[in-house]
Amino acid sequence: MQISSNSPKKRIAAINTINASSLKALRLSESRYRRLFETAQDGILLLNADTAQIEDVNPYLINMLGYSHAVFLGKKLWEVGSFADVAESKNMFAELQTTGYVRYEDLPLKTKSGELIEVEFVSNTYECEDIKVIQCNIRNISQRKQVERELIESKAHLHQLSIFLQRAREEDRAHFSRELHDELGQNLTVLRIDFNGLANQLATSDPAIAARLDAIDQVIIRTVDATRLICEELRPGMLDDLGFEAAITSYARSFTKRFGVPCDLLLDREDYGLDKYLSTAIFRIVQEALTNIARHAQASHAMVALQDCDNGLLLTIADDGIGLPTELTDERKTFGILGMKERVNMLGGRIAIDSAPGRGTHIEVNIPRNDSP
Ligand SMILES: Nc1ncnc2c1ncn2[C@@H]1O[C@H](COP(=O)(O)OP(=O)(O)O)[C@@H](O)[C@H]1O
Ligand SMILES: [Mg+2]
Repeated sequence: MQISSNSPKKRIAAINTINASSLKALRLSESRYRRLFETAQDGILLLNADTAQIEDVNPYLINMLGYSHAVFLGKKLWEVGSFADVAESKNMFAELQTTGYVRYEDLPLKTKSGELIEVEFVSNTYECEDIKVIQCNIRNISQRKQVERELIESKAHLHQLSIFLQRAREEDRAHFSRELHDELGQNLTVLRIDFNGLANQLATSDPAIAARLDAIDQVIIRTVDATRLICEELRPGMLDDLGFEAAITSYARSFTKRFGVPCDLLLDREDYGLDKYLSTAIFRIVQEALTNIARHAQASHAMVALQDCDNGLLLTIADDGIGLPTELTDERKTFGILGMKERVNMLGGRIAIDSAPGRGTHIEVNIPRNDSP
């Protein structure tokens, strides 16, 4: 006699086999998730969403905060020292219950030994076998924050250093300009007077000698002019003697004369009341931009404007030349433009350079007032 396949004995055996294999699968799954939980390199906290009681905590968090597993278990979140800022924890818990999600980018947590750790705290609610669970993921970001602080500090140091170097450079330039003017300039003037006196005394009728004397006089004149020009480039005396408005007007005029490019200067005030630091900085930016126009732009027209605007001053320097080469917009390291940007940065301002091949270059600088360092 054969036992039919659906005999009770066989069915029980089959059920037992199924039970054994699903139990094995369940154990495997549980062991996988346990390992995930226990080896995670972030803190994980599991809470009962209705009671706020801690149901599990992983070794990473235990290690990070210094409390034992037993201290966490069964406690409400805010009963554990690290989360003892009750108001905050209770608020967070209430928010979690209503929205199901809470995220803190930067939360200070106190370890058992009193050390403060900065963490990123993300928690969300989900259902697990009909029980509402809150999972909190806690990432230690102390090291990242420390690096960020060091970066900010070093940026501030560099900023201070830039200001110092820029001032030292201006002082050096003013010093050289004075020396050049007082020593070389004076000597050249004396030389020319003496030379002219001597040439008059000679009163030669030899045209060849007269031509040589005239040529020497022309060289002296050109040297005097060149010295004056170098002095002015180094430190525009007018900036100190007659102020910013006169100096910039004179500079725009001499730019037109020297390079044959008409330069419109638009000043909407007679006196901007700029202090020495600000007037030097604006003058230097204009000087660099106009020099670039003369050297590179092949422009037929240039324009400089200084206007009042909401938060300070708006300086515009524009030309109708060939425009910047395209790769410059990708921050090619060029020191004239870089220096301009650095100066603007030191003033706490913003600079925008708009240019395209054949469409000229338009530089706009926004400078806040009453804010000079
Ligand atoms: N107004 C301008 N028109 C066209 N090209 C310019 C202008 N200003 C600057 N450039 C281009 O940008 C480059 C970088 O300028 P800059 O940083 O002042 O350095 P440098 O003048 O020493 O070359 C120049 O070499 C030139 O190619
Ligand atoms: Mg330049």
